[in-house]
Amino acid sequence: MADPGTKYDAAIVGGLGHVGLPLAITFADKGLRVCAYDISKEHAELVRRGAMPFIEYGAEPVLKKVLANGMLTISTDPNELSAAKHIIIAIGTPVDEYLNPKTRQFMEIISGLKKHISNSQTIIIRSTVYPNTCRQLYNMLSQNGKEEWHVAYCPERIVQGHSMKELLELPQLVAGFSEKAIKEAGDLFGRISPKIIHVAMGEAELAKLFANAWRYIQFAVTNQFYMIAHSFGTDYNKVRKAMMDGYKRAEAIPTAGFAAGPCLLKDTMQLAAYSGNSFLLGHTAMMVNEGLPHFIVEDIKKRHDIAKAKVGILGMAFKADIDDVRDSLSFKLGKILRFNGAKVYYSDEYAKNPDFVTKEELIKQSDVVIVAVPHSAYKGLAIPKGKEVVDLWDVVKQE
Ligand SMILES: NC(=O)c1ccc[n+]([C@@H]2O[C@H](COP(=O)([O-])OP(=O)(O)OC[C@H]3O[C@@H](n4cnc5c(N)ncnc54)[C@H](O)[C@@H]3O)[C@@H](O)[C@H]2O)c1
Repeated sequence: MADPGTKYDAAIVGGLGHVGLPLAITFADKGLRVCAYDISKEHAELVRRGAMPFIEYGAEPVLKKVLANGMLTISTDPNELSAAKHIIIAIGTPVDEYLNPKTRQFMEIISGLKKHISNSQTIIIRSTVYPNTCRQLYNMLSQNGKEEWHVAYCPERIVQGHSMKELLELPQLVAGFSEKAIKEAGDLFGRISPKIIHVAMGEAELAKLFANAWRYIQFAVTNQFYMIAHSFGTDYNKVRKAMMDGYKRAEAIPTAGFAAGPCLLKDTMQLAAYSGNSFLLGHTAMMVNEGLPHFIVEDIKKRHDIAKAKVGILGMAFKADIDDVRDSLSFKLGKILRFNGAKVYYSDEYAKNPDFVTKEELIKQSDVVIVAVPHSAYKGLAIPKGKEVVDLWDVVKQE
């Protein structure tokens, strides 16, 4: 084992993921020696060549710079971890098919790495975790307190695609189980974040989950309003604008649309599981948000013989202007349409898939065009007269 800190100031486990890689690049750009450790050999090869494996605005030029000046090392060898002062954990924390957190998988990965790390390092959890996971991890590492380990939690709160900007702008929550862990994690994140907010461990775990559940519930409210307004024969976008105009108490209401992706639903369900499935608002939000694709299909069925309809879905990523299709509701929409017998076309501006067609081809082939994601490239896109358009965001224009 190398001595901690001899080679790296920080090593990031899951360092080539959506959370780990922008963080690694940002730390390296602030003059820290960083190792991005990951099991993905494919991404390691790509990133070593200076290419981002996914869209993160502004990341690629900085990546090239920190590779060239030697501040960032990409590694698939866990032996490298021992040479870092701090170990940051940024691997995924998924839920299973019954929406329960897969905490054991997370713990087993860290347990498997134990031979490469030591209690002279600070272990900083960056992944979003099920309540009490940090304590469990501390207990596992310290053998229930027999050894002194330094474990901190510094949750990630950025919006995917804009990490490079937000990492330098957002306050950082910091919690830890020892004074050393709290101080070192605070000092480390103080290199990039304008403000460190010290909180207790439970407060940090809940603040992260509550923030995502809050957002998910906000989307559910606006989606439910959309469904009510549409059924009432009104244009929800006009209702929303009228609500917000000069009226501060309503100005936070988001536009209606698919609330998807790898975090919001998952984290709301982690909270639901923690609260003994009594988080009724969380479950209701899931039913509303996950129900939106059904609502859209049922509405189309009122005007079309769906079994004969050709329907195009514009936008397969889980949100605008990124290429990440993880847990995107566009696929659920496509599935429901296909169950009903429709011929379905998919298109996306950024996500690559050999089955996708261009937006022009999709528009040409489809009787109904659904804008599932408001990519900038769809703004003002002309849809010929005679084709039905479902556009919750009001981005395309009918000729
Ligand atoms: N994506 C977001 O916008 C976002 C925002 C805030 C928090 N989070 C949370 O951050 C965590 C990571 O999410 P993500 O979106 O970056 O996931 P991701 O799948 O993009 O990245 C995880 C990375 O971990 C790597 N990995 C998996 N097993 C490993 C192992 N045994 N050793 C080393 N590397 C391993 C994967 O190859 C991958 O590169 C999750 O807990 C998530 O909930 C994500």
